[in-house]
Amino acid sequence: MELDHGNLHLFDTPEALFDAAARRWVALAREAVDHRGGFHVALSGGSTPKALYERLSRPDLRAAVDWERVHIYFGDERCVPPDHADSNYRMVKESLLQDVSIPAVQIHRMMGESEDLEATADGYAQLLAGRLSPDADGGAGRFDLVMLGMGPDGHVASLFPQTPVLEERHRRVTPVHLPQQSAWRLTITFPVIDAARHIMLLVAGQTKAPVMKEVFDGRRRKPRFPVEMIQPQGEMEWYVDRAAAPELTEVT
Ligand code: 6PG
Repeated sequence: MELDHGNLHLFDTPEALFDAAARRWVALAREAVDHRGGFHVALSGGSTPKALYERLSRPDLRAAVDWERVHIYFGDERCVPPDHADSNYRMVKESLLQDVSIPAVQIHRMMGESEDLEATADGYAQLLAGRLSPDADGGAGRFDLVMLGMGPDGHVASLFPQTPVLEERHRRVTPVHLPQQSAWRLTITFPVIDAARHIMLLVAGQTKAPVMKEVFDGRRRKPRFPVEMIQPQGEMEWYVDRAAAPELTEVT
């Protein structure tokens, strides 16, 4: 389904979603390595992306990727130590990194434990500018793939509704305070997401159905959820299960 918001792939079960999305991840990785010598991917936190990482780390797909050419970044991070239960880095390490051989210098953790989040955010933005190919307007770099989950409130990365970071168009990485969780996070901003060659959005489970219904009701309107604010310069693909979109008919 060709949509305002990209292409929608709908699956009857979460397992089918994760299998297809993992295979697409592998295909994008192979294409980037073949054409550009490396695959630069921003990973997401969340239980839905975690299930994809676990699928990727199974022997069949694990063997299909030249992990020595993969460069791992993070789309966001909770401001906790890397061994904390809430750490996205810890989740990615346990569900994927410990099963594949990516050179340590190619794994770029967001230092959520930093005492100076502003400096850490700026340092990560400089990393992106130095490691990624320039984006369309020569800006601070475009990923081959940005992976995103979506919260029940339509947030992506750590871009939550009613937070000032939604309006950020200059900084590529910024700290964000979440009053409702009384927590800090680090996140990439929309300019980085929008510039990606590919965006893969993973949405599963009935808690996401109300927002999905609103997003895909076919009416053109001002975006109300962060997920609707993405303006992809490249390809955007939704991988959605039936529970998250019981009323959508398109199955690819
Ligand atoms: C995080 C993610 C966040 C997540 C969504 C979906 O750090 O948690 O960046 O954006 O992807 O909240 O999470 P679930 O897949 O667990 O619903």
